[in-house]
Amino acid sequence: MQKRTVFIVGGGGMVGASSAQVLAVKEIASDIALIDIDQQLVRGQAMDISHATAYTKSVSVRVGDYSEIKEDDIVVITSGVSQQPGQTRMDLLATNAKITEQVARSAMEQGKPIFILVVANPVDVLTHIALKTSGLPKERVFGTGTTLDTARLKVSLANRLHVSQKEVQAYVMGEHGDSSFPALSGATIGGLPLADFPGFRHHEFETIKHDIRNAVYEIIAAKKSTYYGIGHVVAKIVEALLHDAASIYPVCSLTEGEYGLHGVVLGLPSLVSARGVRILDHYPLTENEHKQLQDSAKVIRGALEKVPQTIV
Ligand SMILES: NC(=O)c1ccc[n+]([C@@H]2O[C@H](COP(=O)([O-])OP(=O)(O)OC[C@H]3O[C@@H](n4cnc5c(N)ncnc54)[C@H](O)[C@@H]3O)[C@@H](O)[C@H]2O)c1
Repeated sequence: MQKRTVFIVGGGGMVGASSAQVLAVKEIASDIALIDIDQQLVRGQAMDISHATAYTKSVSVRVGDYSEIKEDDIVVITSGVSQQPGQTRMDLLATNAKITEQVARSAMEQGKPIFILVVANPVDVLTHIALKTSGLPKERVFGTGTTLDTARLKVSLANRLHVSQKEVQAYVMGEHGDSSFPALSGATIGGLPLADFPGFRHHEFETIKHDIRNAVYEIIAAKKSTYYGIGHVVAKIVEALLHDAASIYPVCSLTEGEYGLHGVVLGLPSLVSARGVRILDHYPLTENEHKQLQDSAKVIRGALEKVPQTIV
């Protein structure tokens, strides 16, 4: 079988380079090709990350080109502007919609059935654009969705309850943005419902929700951008695709009736395997959580309406 390549568009930037670094050092991908409009930056990143592979078996990190894209390769889109202090993810829409459309078009120039993983923000809307532009089946085009928010939730609960992160089963769902919500009613710790776990206090629900939503603003205020957490998230999702891990992550893909939602892209627990992505329906949600999911869908639909018809 031909070696599959993971292309990272925007690989000169912080998120792209961090993703490449985890993919390389953890030996998840053996051929990692970085693409960026900033040629000097991307060359430097590829060189630097390639030196981190000295003690791996055989991993190549290099500058790549769209013309090399083959069947079943994975194209990760991290290209675009990132949040500045005071900006929301939705403020990036006008610029990043155009970039995502261009990138998806270029990725499809060879006409190959590939997988596209969108990371740039606002990720739900940009995933919709990549899906429409590429013309690929919906299971092949998805975004990181609320996987990073979920990682933040797992860490927050683990710290509060003094258990390992691995014992925390809980998802943040909806928009990867200000309308996301932790679906805590179905959360379990080592198989025990969260509400019954020793030390969990109900009044902390709102604080946890607030902390997860605001993590991005806190990190940006402190160090201008976030990239280590998302780099690891990208690597885990790519691993599930490349190695058929059949893992469950709340990635975002197009709904077709799941949770009563039609034609909207947002983060929901989904199975990620060699076939791509499949939303898992029927996660138990309370009435209030169901309403939060519908409200989140409304926010994304509203944003999508602002994208020129020529793009979606
Ligand atoms: N989904 C998530 O959970 C998540 C988390 C963190 C950041 N992000 C998003 O990831 C994106 C990247 O963030 P960053 O901190 O790496 O920004 P960055 O500015 O460091 O990097 C962006 C890179 O994209 C490149 N680029 C721009 N237009 C391009 C094009 N047409 N083709 C190829 N490359 C192009 C730039 O040259 C730059 O190197 C932002 O939109 C940010 O909001 C998403």
